[in-house]
Amino acid sequence: MPTAATLHTDPVSTTSLRLRAATAADAETCARIAHAAFLDIAQRHQLPADIPTLDLAVRLFGHWITHPNFHVIVAELAGRLVGSVVIDERACIAGLGPFTVEPALQNRALGRQLTQAVAARLAERAARGARLVQAPHNFTTLSLCIQAGFEVREPLVSLQGAALGISLPGHVVRVATLDDLAACNRLCQQVHGHDRGGELADAISTGRARLVERDGRISGYASEIGFAGHAVGETNADLQALIGAATHFSGQGFLLPTRNGELFRWCLGHGLRIMQSLTLMSIGFYQEPRGAFLPSIAY
Ligand SMILES: CC(C)(COP(=O)(O)OP(=O)(O)OC[C@H]1O[C@@H](n2cnc3c(N)ncnc32)[C@H](O)[C@@H]1OP(=O)(O)O)[C@@H](O)C(=O)NCCC(=O)NCCS
Repeated sequence: MPTAATLHTDPVSTTSLRLRAATAADAETCARIAHAAFLDIAQRHQLPADIPTLDLAVRLFGHWITHPNFHVIVAELAGRLVGSVVIDERACIAGLGPFTVEPALQNRALGRQLTQAVAARLAERAARGARLVQAPHNFTTLSLCIQAGFEVREPLVSLQGAALGISLPGHVVRVATLDDLAACNRLCQQVHGHDRGGELADAISTGRARLVERDGRISGYASEIGFAGHAVGETNADLQALIGAATHFSGQGFLLPTRNGELFRWCLGHGLRIMQSLTLMSIGFYQEPRGAFLPSIAY
């Protein structure tokens, strides 16, 4: 674990540093660095790695770099790619991360340079705000984000376990289609003050999105119940119906705001286990949620 004694400031020379948009040819190098960086920090804290395999990292970066609404910035030092940051631009609120720097070059101000490049991109696009999910044991990102103006919003846990196979009386869960997009967007708007329609449309197109209907109308939806998915509901029961119907919880499980004690207790009572604790942070527009929600690993 880093301590004040291990901190040093030997910043890399900015004259040999270049920040630029990633191209498809960068995907493999970005993936290799991200995989190594996550493995390194996970081993230091004896936790599971966020991107556990190189194969998954390659697939993720291939997707992010070629997706029209993601923007990936890479840092090159003397012509060699040494780090990257991914910006999800599918909504008016950008989702940030992962931020990764080659382990041997960490703590030399490259992360700060990437953070500044993100701030410039957000300003250029006049984004309404940005959010990210940060691991509280990761003092480096905590320090960088707080200094960049982010606020801590929600303590979270990721929860994993066997599918619950539960249905709630009066709550009908079904696959979401593009015809449901407008109603789901209205619900998200009501809870968060903005929609996440781009993300939901992607999830619908791959068959992952589910919604819950109560009294003949949509009262909740999930782009996916898992690490990369988000969900909103009018009530906790709406989210319980979505969680209860999920056939599995992808990645390291779904993220749950721990201030929602009722839902947290219900999940633990159904045998789900805590994988890690995390923190939701935001900069710019933020509305205190007016309903139940599960954030994704982006926000
Ligand atoms: C997160 C990461 C991208 C940051 O890049 P980096 O080049 O190491 O970061 P920098 O050197 O620019 O900045 C580190 C900052 O953390 C600060 N910091 C580190 N430990 C600290 C501590 N214990 N208390 C306070 N500040 C601390 C440093 O002082 C520095 O801030 P400063 O510039 O004001 O001095 C990189 O460390 C990484 O790849 N980590 C592994 C992957 C990861 O966890 N990514 C984040 C999740 S998406």
